[in-house]
Amino acid sequence: MSILSQRAQALQPSATMAVSARAKELKSQGVDVISFGAGEPDFDTPEHIKQAAKNALDAGETKYSLPVNGKPELREAIVEKFKRDNNLEYSPSQVCVSYGGKCCLYLAFQTIVDPGDEVIIQTPYWVSYPEQVKQAGGVPVFVETEEKNDFKLTPELLERAITDKTKVLVLNSPSNPGGFTYTFEELKGLAEVIADKDIIVFSDEMYDRLVYDGTKCTSIAATMPEMMEKTLTFNAMSKTFAMTGWRLGYVAGPENIINAMTKLQSQAASAPAGFIQTAATVGLKGDQQCVEDMRSEFQRRAKRMYERLNEIPGLSCIKPTGAFYCFPNISGWFGRELAGKKITGSLDFCATLLDEAHVAIVPGVAFGCDSNARLSFATSMENIENGLNRIEEFLKKYA
Ligand SMILES: Cc1ncc(COP(=O)(O)O)c(C=O)c1O
Repeated sequence: MSILSQRAQALQPSATMAVSARAKELKSQGVDVISFGAGEPDFDTPEHIKQAAKNALDAGETKYSLPVNGKPELREAIVEKFKRDNNLEYSPSQVCVSYGGKCCLYLAFQTIVDPGDEVIIQTPYWVSYPEQVKQAGGVPVFVETEEKNDFKLTPELLERAITDKTKVLVLNSPSNPGGFTYTFEELKGLAEVIADKDIIVFSDEMYDRLVYDGTKCTSIAATMPEMMEKTLTFNAMSKTFAMTGWRLGYVAGPENIINAMTKLQSQAASAPAGFIQTAATVGLKGDQQCVEDMRSEFQRRAKRMYERLNEIPGLSCIKPTGAFYCFPNISGWFGRELAGKKITGSLDFCATLLDEAHVAIVPGVAFGCDSNARLSFATSMENIENGLNRIEEFLKKYA
């Protein structure tokens, strides 16, 4: 009998981590690797937020932080944020603060999903959804989307995936890795399918402020009044404020669900550190110019990376409207040879690119979409130019 629980044995390591580990290994051997693997902003946390944390530490915010769902000032600031940016009216009692968006999602799956419940997840998806569903005993039901439709779930596809076991629909807009953003009309179309069903939407809006060229990010909970009762809206300080390492996320939704998640958090971890919550409050309530500065730089990079990718033989890419990823189709190389290796899928393609051109990109198979690969533009313009030069020069040899 294994010492490990069946749950622990069933868990898959994050495939995105595997690529960065291999890139790190090469770097440690002295190889000059350019990495497009990053899932976090390359900017530092804005100074006034860091200063707020330092001040809070000096003021003695070093004890257990109460209440478990987050400090009232922070939950107030989150309520204001949802109103200001997402047209959502929550009250502070409908908000729970936790350790990054990831932990908010984890608490939610544990709170909502029973063994055998089905959770609808579209491809391409963020890597942790299926594993978190399985940890709760649920069954991920993958819905394949079409690249020609910008990888978007449609009402027809959703309708077909729903069974009497469906408990949750996961939506992520702007999308990691797809880089697409649902419009109000598209989300309303999906909302109409589930409006009369006992299905909860987990709306992952981590990248809501990182949208480009006039794209608007809509929350599905704002598309029709019924959706407020049927949606958990997830967000975090991580991507918007370049605070990935601070581990501060939040979720809002029906009070009974939030209370159940809070109870779980009280037994598993207690509330995130008080000085971090204070800094997050300052971030949400303070001058938002820092967010705009980062957003506009991401927009510049998105355009450049998208244009360059479409010039490279065998690659094609839809233009990212949000998040910080391009997700080119690489399947033009499948069945062919690169550096003497037959390419059969995204894993081979990315491994060959890393070993031969010293560029790290993430195989789409990690996101349930083998025909593509993910490149993060959360890196300098210089890295983008140099890395894409390398990819182009390498692939041109075999075109
Ligand atoms: C779509 C998506 N959801 C959730 C998360 C988790 O965010 P956090 O770092 O706040 O836990 C990420 C981070 O990569 C993400 O891309």
